[in-house]
Amino acid sequence: MAEAEDRIRTMLSNQIDPREFDSPAFQQDPFALYKRLRDHHPVYHDRFHNRWAITRYWDVDAVFQSSEAYTRGVYDEKGSYRFGSRHVFGPNILEYGVGDRHRWMRNVIAGQFVGQKLEDFLPLIDMIAREVIERFRGDGTVELVRQFSSQLPIRVISNMLGLPREDEDRFVGWYQALIAGLGFGGEHLARGLAARNEMWEYLDPIIAERTARPGEDLLSRIIGAELDGTRMSVEEIKGFVALLLAAGGDTTDKAIANMWYHMLYTRPDQYADVKADPSLWSNVFTEMMRYDPVVHTQFRRATKEIELYDEVIPKGASVVVYLGAGNRDERVFKNPDVFDIHRDDLHMGRENRSGRYKDGKPGHLGFGMGQHFCMGYAMARQEAVIACAHLANLIPNPRPRDKDHPGISSPSIDSGGFRSPLELWIDFDV
Ligand code: HEM
Repeated sequence: MAEAEDRIRTMLSNQIDPREFDSPAFQQDPFALYKRLRDHHPVYHDRFHNRWAITRYWDVDAVFQSSEAYTRGVYDEKGSYRFGSRHVFGPNILEYGVGDRHRWMRNVIAGQFVGQKLEDFLPLIDMIAREVIERFRGDGTVELVRQFSSQLPIRVISNMLGLPREDEDRFVGWYQALIAGLGFGGEHLARGLAARNEMWEYLDPIIAERTARPGEDLLSRIIGAELDGTRMSVEEIKGFVALLLAAGGDTTDKAIANMWYHMLYTRPDQYADVKADPSLWSNVFTEMMRYDPVVHTQFRRATKEIELYDEVIPKGASVVVYLGAGNRDERVFKNPDVFDIHRDDLHMGRENRSGRYKDGKPGHLGFGMGQHFCMGYAMARQEAVIACAHLANLIPNPRPRDKDHPGISSPSIDSGGFRSPLELWIDFDV
């Protein structure tokens, strides 16, 4: 009798109430719910949000890799939807599933954020990092999110686009409004749209000028790219720029904050290792992308009926992949809830879209995989590593100020799952 009661109690405690996804507890710490999902509901039909949740590592991997069975395209390319009309950035690559248009858009910027092109930009990244640090170096204290991480990547990407350096502060303001507009509705969306319109107006004469006199910059490349003899419309060009400012800025910015949070707040012992061997910043980046990635969710739609475990995902159903949950799958990683830059069961080097590596180890899922694999993966890693190494060099003896820091959280489920500390105060010697 007692045994049966125990079984029922365990069964009930493993049930999921879909409202948990909206709770403050989940925003603060989603990992306990992720584990219950992985262990007891690897394919969870969330009737409240009308979607199916996938949480185990190899299942997340399979969704990313099977773009035929799970499409990202929300709109029918041949239908009446005007691309960009419902998106805060305007028309942009994120609205497309796979197909000619998506492949072409990738090709336009492919090669710009990797290899020699990226190498050519390293001195600039270096210089901007130093400039930003110089502003607070004499203060003995810094709020890392506001004064450092949110300042750096946006300046780098706007330089790559060839936008005027003197206007960088305006881009920082615009991209912050765009991101808030992307994640939240209501007044945030209104502010995001206002920022976008202001930025679009600002871009008009620059686009006209680069159309007439193209340069070597990324904006000129986007303007000049052709598919079947046609170029992007001015709206599409502006949508691409808005996306790159946000994708290139916000994610990398939060990655840097997450790395410092772990180094100073949860693993000061491993910070000592990194100080002794700065090449380990690369491991800090990789382990952060596994343990506490900036992006936790991506959305797809089933293009056909899919049987998985005991469930049947119907054709057309909305599917949410929790890459943040896959990264903590104990079926793949030993002690997944420990942040460890020396782990030997994670591929530590550069990522790729297949996620298959010669060392036979699984990679993190933080950049997605497959056809939509992040295009800025190499740049994000370089930027984060360079920025962190400079900061560690230039602020002696950094110390966390908040003894009760609330940790890494996401402000709301609508934030697209972006997770990072809201503030990170660090004191240091001058
Ligand atoms: C740590 C920083 C970053 C993270 C965590 C991140 C994360 C991601 C993820 C998860 C995706 C996959 C979307 C999907 O599967 O639907 C993606 C796509 C993308 N990322 Fe990143 N990203 C980062 C940095 C960057 C940078 C620096 C750039 C460019 C400057 C960039 C440009 C893009 C683009 C253009 C796509 C769309 C690719 C496509 O649709 O085919 N990202 N990113």
